Amino acid sequence: MPALVLLGAQWGDEGKGKATDLLGGSVDYVVRYQGGNNAGHTVVVGDQKYALHLLPSGILSPGCTPVIGNGVVVDPAVLLSELSGLNERGVDTSKLLVSGNAHLITPYNITVDKVTERFLGKRKIGTTGRGIGPTYADKINRTGIRVQDLFDESILLQKVEAALDFKNQVLAKLYNHRAVVAEQVVEEMLGYADQIKGYVADTTLILNDAIDEGKVVLFEGGQGTLLDVDHGTYPFVTSSNPTAGGACTGAGVGPTKINRVIGILKAYTTRVGAGPFPTELFDKDGEALRTIGGERGVTTGRDRRCGWFDAVIARYATRVNGLTDFFLTKLDVLTGWEQIPVCVAYEVDGKRVEELPHNQSDFHHAKPVYEMLPGWSEDITKAKTFAELPKNAQAYVKALEEMSGAPISAIGVGPGRDETIQINSFLD
Ligand code: GDP
Ligand code: IMO
Ligand code: MG
Repeated sequence: MPALVLLGAQWGDEGKGKATDLLGGSVDYVVRYQGGNNAGHTVVVGDQKYALHLLPSGILSPGCTPVIGNGVVVDPAVLLSELSGLNERGVDTSKLLVSGNAHLITPYNITVDKVTERFLGKRKIGTTGRGIGPTYADKINRTGIRVQDLFDESILLQKVEAALDFKNQVLAKLYNHRAVVAEQVVEEMLGYADQIKGYVADTTLILNDAIDEGKVVLFEGGQGTLLDVDHGTYPFVTSSNPTAGGACTGAGVGPTKINRVIGILKAYTTRVGAGPFPTELFDKDGEALRTIGGERGVTTGRDRRCGWFDAVIARYATRVNGLTDFFLTKLDVLTGWEQIPVCVAYEVDGKRVEELPHNQSDFHHAKPVYEMLPGWSEDITKAKTFAELPKNAQAYVKALEEMSGAPISAIGVGPGRDETIQINSFLD
């Protein structure tokens, strides 16, 4: 089983960090293929808790080579501070590989992210303010700066000047912001070059060779399917492709090499930032999910919006990613409810719809159609097998599996590495 993709099936924060870390011990490479330090992945190992933003979660597994692929946007300051933070805690990060084709988040990309949000006012996306969207915009606009540009001072200056030509006009004339000085940006970026140089590699070549040699490669998505710029709730999305196809473009590996696509699925739903969310709760149940589930953003510290499980979303994730498996996380958070509502379909303009509405306005108006499933009160955090779960918890999992369109191959019953029920191996 050489190549697997692991990605979020909802709006992010499904528990991808834990799932990746769990597999990390059995895989040779863990590869981030899109996004940047907008991600916040929590990994709990024993009594140690790690919050990773840019680095792949596999960095915590000693045998595993972590890779930042060409599709990622890299803030060099964040990269270096995340590495030194891990080094201080005794984590060896020397194996890290960074694609020279990955784009750099520059200080002016962060400025543009913040002023754009400010000027959008009520219509803002609620971005993480890390410069993600503007950096991808520069990439597509062919005015981006890549990691390899750090090693040629005159090219770097030319590219930064070219990028700022237009941007400074916009910043000064439209946003009333002072112009950015190209030389200052270049000086700051060059200050990172020497420390980053040793990590830079032709990651596409290395990963394809690894797969051909039968090594196990895991592609780890940031964010989630509904935040995908093509398949998500546009415009309330991030600016990259967390969906499975993104692993191919963002790492330079052909689709024929991917054997398995695992969707990480929370047993309920959360979302950070603005945008539609049909099962969102504004009552004490929503508050209880937030408190019991610890639903606070790892990157921005914002409270996450919480709601019941949405099977329409899960089916959609199966479809657009070609999911072969689900990893259901945070089942333990639902312990204690007498009955648990699950959204099985939507009602749009008085009609029942089973699939995610193609039209944005229809999705904004979609009302959840709920089915009530019986809850359980027993502590499930110590369960090691499916049979050890209370009957109603088993039935909840089975019902979700049937509605969602792919087998649930693992279940999270707590944040720790070992608080997992493995039903089918991901590596067969
Ligand atoms: P990611 O962005 O997808 O990696 O997810 P986050 O780390 O942002 O959020 C998931 C949160 O849930 C983290 O605090 C994890 O430690 C925690 N978590 C993951 N799996 C489980 C689980 O099965 N049960 C519980 N209670 N917490 C979990
Ligand atoms: P992980 O990897 C949840 C959301 C932001 C905002 C939108 C656009 O931890 O699941 P951006 O800064 O990317 O331009 O913001 O996307 N967002 C996330 N929400 N989890 C994440 O990452 C997210 N990364 C971005 O809140 O709504
Ligand atoms: Mg997260």
